[in-house]
Amino acid sequence: MCGIVGILGERQVAPLLLEGLKRLEYRGYDSAGIAALANGHIECRRAEGKIDRLVAKCGQLPLTGTVGIGHTRWATHGKPTEDNAHPHVTERVAVVHNGIIENYRSLREELEKKQHRFTSETDTETIAHLLTDYLDQGMTPQQATSAALKRLDGAFAIAAIFAGHKNLLIGARRGSPLAVGYGDGEMYLGSDALALAPLTNRISYLEEGDWVELHPGQAVIHDCCDKLVERKIHITSLSGAMIGKGQYRHFMLKEIFEQPAVIGDTLSSLVTPDNRIALPEMPFDWAKVPRLTIVGCGTAYYAGLVAKYWFEQLARMPVEIDIASEFRYRNAPLTEGGVTLAVSQSGETADTLGALHVAKEHGQKILTVVNVPQSSMARLSDVVVPTLAGPEIGVASTKAFTTQLTVLLCLAVSAAVARKTLSAERAAAILQALREIPAHLNLVLRDEHFIQELAQRVGEARDVLYLGRGLLYPLAMEGALKLKEISYIHAEGYPAGEMKHGPIALIDEDVPVVFLAPHDALFEKSASNIQEVSARGGKVILFSDKDGVAGIGGKADWNMALPKVDPVVSPLLYAVPVQLLAYYTALVKGTDVDQPRNLAKSVTVE
Ligand code: M6R
Repeated sequence: MCGIVGILGERQVAPLLLEGLKRLEYRGYDSAGIAALANGHIECRRAEGKIDRLVAKCGQLPLTGTVGIGHTRWATHGKPTEDNAHPHVTERVAVVHNGIIENYRSLREELEKKQHRFTSETDTETIAHLLTDYLDQGMTPQQATSAALKRLDGAFAIAAIFAGHKNLLIGARRGSPLAVGYGDGEMYLGSDALALAPLTNRISYLEEGDWVELHPGQAVIHDCCDKLVERKIHITSLSGAMIGKGQYRHFMLKEIFEQPAVIGDTLSSLVTPDNRIALPEMPFDWAKVPRLTIVGCGTAYYAGLVAKYWFEQLARMPVEIDIASEFRYRNAPLTEGGVTLAVSQSGETADTLGALHVAKEHGQKILTVVNVPQSSMARLSDVVVPTLAGPEIGVASTKAFTTQLTVLLCLAVSAAVARKTLSAERAAAILQALREIPAHLNLVLRDEHFIQELAQRVGEARDVLYLGRGLLYPLAMEGALKLKEISYIHAEGYPAGEMKHGPIALIDEDVPVVFLAPHDALFEKSASNIQEVSARGGKVILFSDKDGVAGIGGKADWNMALPKVDPVVSPLLYAVPVQLLAYYTALVKGTDVDQPRNLAKSVTVE
């Protein structure tokens, strides 16, 4: 999604803005631009494509000034061209914007009638002209901002600079996050704290409807009614170093390899060394919760799907799960006293946030598992259990997923203990199995070269099927999603038992079928499905354990024996080989692994 950075400094801001934009690259974008005030006049540089093109442009035609704004754009209204790139500029103002202005057509018509000339197809340009119109009427930048915000419908974050005002930077937030950074005399705006990490660790987050005027060394924050308000300053633990690639070729690979450590960190925050769960206090009693509703998108949804199995099997709790964008408009009846559980890496996904608003309106308690503790979802929730994955930069989610699973299993065990559906011994055994996962994952990671070889073959396929049963069914879907996202190979994940009801028609010698089949209670069923694929000339790729490989490995064209674990924790283990398979297949295909085409890290529009 789009990214914003704004700096009101004492130094030349252009190099700092470009640096900040580079840090926002991970969010996904297709053009970029910066603007600064040079001798009171607005100067702007924009480029289609990667930030390097913008850097080159700024090299040829340098931009001077100590106050400026920058933007990475992920196209919504209008193609990813230079004309549509932000900032959008008039003689009086430059604006960058994340989100969507829903009433931009009518505003544009109104402004065009007043002789405002538009040069782009974007909704954002309307904001620049609206502000200009108010400035032309004699308003100050602050008055113009306040007036313009009242005219805009939609969800957005905005940053703006004003000709002739070198000591002013204005930001506003409605529905899309915006952070204020406090430096030594310098002030900053960022769509997330990561963009500001090398500049400052003192951050405050604007609340819904807030707008802020930044002056040297000072932030004046107004709420949606223009009343002056204070917002707490947090000291973030993010540092520039945390968001480097280290010795890895891609962020995704680094993040795959970080999993043993971050699962361990997350687990240590939730479970004592003697295997007692130490979760935050819940504002409800698990024993009395009549129904749990889980919502999420993409990978987070698949983590939620695994959790459904855990809550049902361990805590005997009725669970409903839905993709957030469906749930929010489905008008599903929600049970009184019910709990809605959201799963999200960013905590800013518009669909999940929308679903939580619906659940809250229906009196549900909101429990959120999230990786960004200051995010909009965290602030909306009654209780938050953080994943300690650290910043996830690769667009394809990896360590966020396995840390989500870690938290979700702890929650399910805790609910089961409260509901007396799990003995203390079994609860301790599950937690012990979870504790051993990082060591098992290290073994899988050590053998990554096997998967690297397999990827050469998968890279030749046009379609790939992923099949799994029970707890491994969501993993089949996650494996297929990973492959699609970064290698652009068409892939589908199915419950293995469903294959004979349709997908079996796809099978021939050109369609690899990836089976995720540990030697558990459902193994013999999966073994039959493997036979069915093999009998039709399909190419079977089997991820199992040593018993599984001994049992049916002979029917597979390729197999890998993963460590044998308690079946309940198997989703955490099987996540890693499917991530590696997607990663190495993407390398074979030569795609942009960390920033795959069309995708954004955090999807803050509907
Ligand atoms: O930030 P969130 O976890 O809410 O994001 C949800 C999805 O957009 C995300 O998981 C997406 O599917 C990833 N690209 C998957 O790799």
